[in-house]
Amino acid sequence: MIDRSTTIKIQEAAQIVDVVSDFVTLKKSGANYKGLCPFHDDRTPSFMVSPAKNYCKCFACGKGGSPVGFIMEHEQLSYPDALRYLAKKYGIQIEERELTAEERAAQSERESMFILNEWALRWFQRQMHETPDGRAIGLSYFRERGFRDDIIQKFQLGFCPKGRDVMSQSAMKEGYKEQYLVGTGLSIKREDGSVVDRFWGRVMFPWHTVGGKVAGFGGRVLDAATKGVAVKYQNSPESAIYSKRRELYGLFQAKQAIVKADQVYMVEGYTDVISMHQCGIENVVANSGTALTKEQIHLLHRFTNNITLLYDGDEAGIHAAQRGTDMLLAAGMNVQILLLPDGDDPDSFARKHTANDFRQYVEEHKVDFLKFKTTLAMNQAQNDPRKLSQLVADIVTSISFIPDEITRTLYIRETAQMMQMQEQMIYRAVQNQMSKNREEEYKRRNTPVTVGDQQPEADPSLAADTSPVVEPSAQGLSDIDAASSALSTASVPPASSAREQAAPATELLLAQLIVRYGEKIICEAEDGEGNAVPLSVTEFIFYSLTQDGLAFAQPLAQVVLDKAMKHVHDEGFVAEKYFLSHRNQQLSQAAFQLCMDKEELSKYHSRDQQLVPDSSRLLELTTHVLADMKLSIVRQKINNVMADMKNPAMKSQQRELLVRFKELKDAESRLAKECGDRVLK
Ligand code: CTP
Ligand code: MN
Repeated sequence: MIDRSTTIKIQEAAQIVDVVSDFVTLKKSGANYKGLCPFHDDRTPSFMVSPAKNYCKCFACGKGGSPVGFIMEHEQLSYPDALRYLAKKYGIQIEERELTAEERAAQSERESMFILNEWALRWFQRQMHETPDGRAIGLSYFRERGFRDDIIQKFQLGFCPKGRDVMSQSAMKEGYKEQYLVGTGLSIKREDGSVVDRFWGRVMFPWHTVGGKVAGFGGRVLDAATKGVAVKYQNSPESAIYSKRRELYGLFQAKQAIVKADQVYMVEGYTDVISMHQCGIENVVANSGTALTKEQIHLLHRFTNNITLLYDGDEAGIHAAQRGTDMLLAAGMNVQILLLPDGDDPDSFARKHTANDFRQYVEEHKVDFLKFKTTLAMNQAQNDPRKLSQLVADIVTSISFIPDEITRTLYIRETAQMMQMQEQMIYRAVQNQMSKNREEEYKRRNTPVTVGDQQPEADPSLAADTSPVVEPSAQGLSDIDAASSALSTASVPPASSAREQAAPATELLLAQLIVRYGEKIICEAEDGEGNAVPLSVTEFIFYSLTQDGLAFAQPLAQVVLDKAMKHVHDEGFVAEKYFLSHRNQQLSQAAFQLCMDKEELSKYHSRDQQLVPDSSRLLELTTHVLADMKLSIVRQKINNVMADMKNPAMKSQQRELLVRFKELKDAESRLAKECGDRVLK
């Protein structure tokens, strides 16, 4: 429901560096920017952002796209929703009518769930601020805890009133479906068929995705209402849009501060995050009382390398601090641990201190994981050799996960000093453990996964691949499917069939010319009535091929040619812009690869190294590549004819074959001249 001109307006406004920076820390690198890839577990910056092309791409995992494409992939949005996201970011007005009930139903399940959650968030807020009960019960609860109004707003806290189904009924009255109420977990369907509110009588903490959409909720029971409800916090259940292991509470509100401080504080609970914000420390997230997961670490790692675990100084806090470290180390993070004075959690501590005092306390008391583990265990294991060796084994394991060799060596040295042991011994133990880790890793990778099995260690980027996000567009998706797989095979031709691969390679060069210069006028031709008409690169290639009755064998090249032919006379058509911002991600990614493969085309550029060739140079280049392509087709045919001539079964056709051979040889020498190639007669 977004019209064409608005779409173009959004595409022109959206700057790739700006858009990506909301999620990835970028550093300038020549004309481009680089950062850690948000789509896979990246340890060295593989994610390249090109302001000139308004495009981004990971050179390790291949993901990326135009600003719209990036948002689609990253925020798991449909094409129109990604446009809406960017319109909002750039303050572009979209005139849209209200969706009808059918249209609402037609939207994908995930989108519907996000829409419902967004509605629920507003509803919980209105209940808390605008109803007498909400104010007397919900709002006053937060105020009594000392939360300021601006903080209540910032975290979009709310209230779900008592009465078993007030929220569910309101939602259904406004046209939201029971299916999604149950799907998001906002409602629970009972055996008798009735639908009740999961969060009734609770104050509400919404969970935002890193991009700010509402993925789920946590609801806290009021202190007064302990009767009958034992669980202090109720959380949204796992669903298509919410997975506890993939989200971090507060990340949406914290991400800018994390980048700025290049440091994140990790706490346990909702109230810890909120109180720290209120005290002025905003680079803080919570993982909600469970062990840190790989997915969460991966999420954080995009914003900073430095993490400080902040826990209560009690038994449980110490335990929690120990659990998270190895995985963080394995991700290449610098891990610091801070235990607060016994009896304090970050929430209570923040309420008693200013931001400066808090930060100072952290700086003075935080220790790295090694100090943390040694001092802790030295106290426990003092004169017990068995416990002591357990402690060493534990430390050795931790060190073995550190990917960086220098860091590892430094820790080995420090351990040796602290434990008064030989450095060599610890070094060997670490080496041993590392090979064990590798074996484990190998086993893990080669264990077949049963379909439908809940994989606890599943790679989030893999999961993202299978989630139904890309809207099937009516634009020849299967062509493009084939095209992009052709592209990936074409870049690594098997050595044995170099000759057969020759044609596709030149085809890709022609596709490259179309993507990069397709709209450029390179010559004039006569139309049927003898008028001179300007010809673009695209048309030149098209007519040259059709004249000889040829077509591309590569689906990608054919798709590129067809699409360019279709649009080349559109007003303001610029092929590169058109292809890079194409709504079909596969096509836009393939086009980007073509743009970046300068190597191949530059063989033809040998005489001058102009970045954008002028029209006569382009004409020369295009003619040259076309001749090359035709030449390799002709040579292929010559080979076939020669094989036939040697074939006894074809003896009766020798004459015809010879004529054919002669024709082909003539064509070959004519083309070879055009190519400037020397050919042996
Ligand atoms: N938690 C949860 N479900 C529970 C208990 C805890 O999801 N039944 C999560 C919540 O995210 C909670 C965090 O674990 O914030 C830490 O738990 P706890 O320390 O008990 O809660 P606090 O955040 O301290 O909350 P409060 O101060 O309101 O008691
Ligand atoms: Mn608390």
